[in-house]
Amino acid sequence: MSNFIDEVKSRRTFGIISHPDAGKTTLTEKLLFFGGAIRSAGTVKGKKTGKFAKSDWMEIEKQRGISVTSSVMQFDYDGFRVNILDTPGHEDFSEDTYRTLTAVDSAVMVIDSGKGIEPQTIKLFKVCRMRGIPIFTFINKLDRVGKAPLELIAELEEVLGIEAYPMNWPIGMGKEFLGIYDRYYNRIEQFRVEEDDRFIPLNEDGEIDGDHPIKQSSLYDQVLEEVELLNEAGNEFSRERIAEGTLTPVFFGSALTTFGVQTFLETYLKFAPEPQPRHSDQGYIDPLNEQFTGFVFKIQANMNPAHRDRIAFVRVCSGKFERGMNVILSRTGKQMKLSQSTQFLAESRETVNEAVSGDIIGLYDTGTYQIGDTIVGGKPIIHYDPLPQFTPELFVRVRAKNVMKQKQFHKGINQLVQEGAIQLYKTKFEEYIIGAVGQLQFEVFEHRMKNEYNSDVVMEHLGSKIVRWVEGDKVDENLNTQRSMLVKDRFDKNVFLFENDFALRWFQDKHPDVKLYNPMDEY
Ligand code: G4P
Repeated sequence: MSNFIDEVKSRRTFGIISHPDAGKTTLTEKLLFFGGAIRSAGTVKGKKTGKFAKSDWMEIEKQRGISVTSSVMQFDYDGFRVNILDTPGHEDFSEDTYRTLTAVDSAVMVIDSGKGIEPQTIKLFKVCRMRGIPIFTFINKLDRVGKAPLELIAELEEVLGIEAYPMNWPIGMGKEFLGIYDRYYNRIEQFRVEEDDRFIPLNEDGEIDGDHPIKQSSLYDQVLEEVELLNEAGNEFSRERIAEGTLTPVFFGSALTTFGVQTFLETYLKFAPEPQPRHSDQGYIDPLNEQFTGFVFKIQANMNPAHRDRIAFVRVCSGKFERGMNVILSRTGKQMKLSQSTQFLAESRETVNEAVSGDIIGLYDTGTYQIGDTIVGGKPIIHYDPLPQFTPELFVRVRAKNVMKQKQFHKGINQLVQEGAIQLYKTKFEEYIIGAVGQLQFEVFEHRMKNEYNSDVVMEHLGSKIVRWVEGDKVDENLNTQRSMLVKDRFDKNVFLFENDFALRWFQDKHPDVKLYNPMDEY
């Protein structure tokens, strides 16, 4: 059993968050490269090589040059097993990212040193904050001239409200970038210098003993001054505060030139949390608990164009998963044998035979799973907390173009809803209304309906609405008006779609007895 405990404790499962173009893909590639999961950088995403962009619906992604899928990558490094969960950076897919962040134990935040904190960084940071996820910061692109490091640290503290502890400090930037002054390892790591000479050890005072050409540079003096300032006036390093998510260790580097990435990885693995307990209706479940449990945080269709398959991504929260094992789907109580499972690597998908707490497994899905489902390896049956569901803001009325193709239409819609790609509502006339957070989700929906389910759809845009759920099961149908549309969600709950904020307030004034709520308020 101690073997099992060691296995679990060796897991490090994290997501990378960033604003598009900050360098998340590049950093991921370099991490995978050090982990030996890929032979050369530039193979992670279709954006770079076209290699993984073959499936039809990813055409949209290619055309727009954005990443709309999230995938899982795993590698071993220094006795750790690392699981990286990729998250889409585009804001229209933030719901997907939110769900993915429920399956990680920590997050790496990539910041472009030239741009500082960008809007999507703020949004994603807030999610991590709310969930108390420890955050490690990688400030990227030091090979270019960017903002002053002190300014970047101040931005972290002022814009995001998190205290920062710089683990290292850049010596110059852009053409004058000489490397990083590593406070943690008490050494200087030189930029563009071969392995053997790259590191210069520092003495007890944090300075280079004897002669070294780098001492001739005024940048060296400047960095000593700045580091002294950090030592005297900066935050103190605290492992506990990192674990609580109130202090972020900051690393500087340049992912493109592979500089500072290995140092980051090694230090990160030292401080990143092992698999953490998850909350369920039976309280927190310890990852070292022997009973296998996990939850579905993502469902993705057609990842492999060769077989039109769907995969449910499961975060293992306790116990050990073994291929062929019997599990119970908590929602239905149904027993299933898990014989088909996959694990994800950058270059290939492999069959997984065993996985422990912290790992992510992919289960082939024929429509069995829903986002948020718990699976357990036996009794007692537990249910992990529901996943956050975004309150959609944009709505379209949708129907099949060809009335003879209702079957495909319904199949497509139902599957896409189960995947969490869109949210579905029905009017009392059985009309379908779908809701999304961003316009791009509708485009992907339309594209996938046509390409995956052979169903052309007609979409009538209803614009933005304010959604509120109704407490209790009953509601007076006469309250259904143009400005307060009454619909049912897919669980048959009553929902109002208000035309605007004014309509919502007017309704609340007029009908104080109807209790409205927004589930997102709980997050
Ligand atoms: P993302 O996944 O966060 O969206 O960012 P990605 O890694 O795709 O990087 C965005 C752009 O920034 C890419 O350039 C990439 O090469 C560049 N980049 C990433 N890291 C660094 C760095 O450390 N230094 C510099 N100078 N650039 C970096 P692109 O021109 O948009 O793409 P590509 O055509 O070069 O692939």
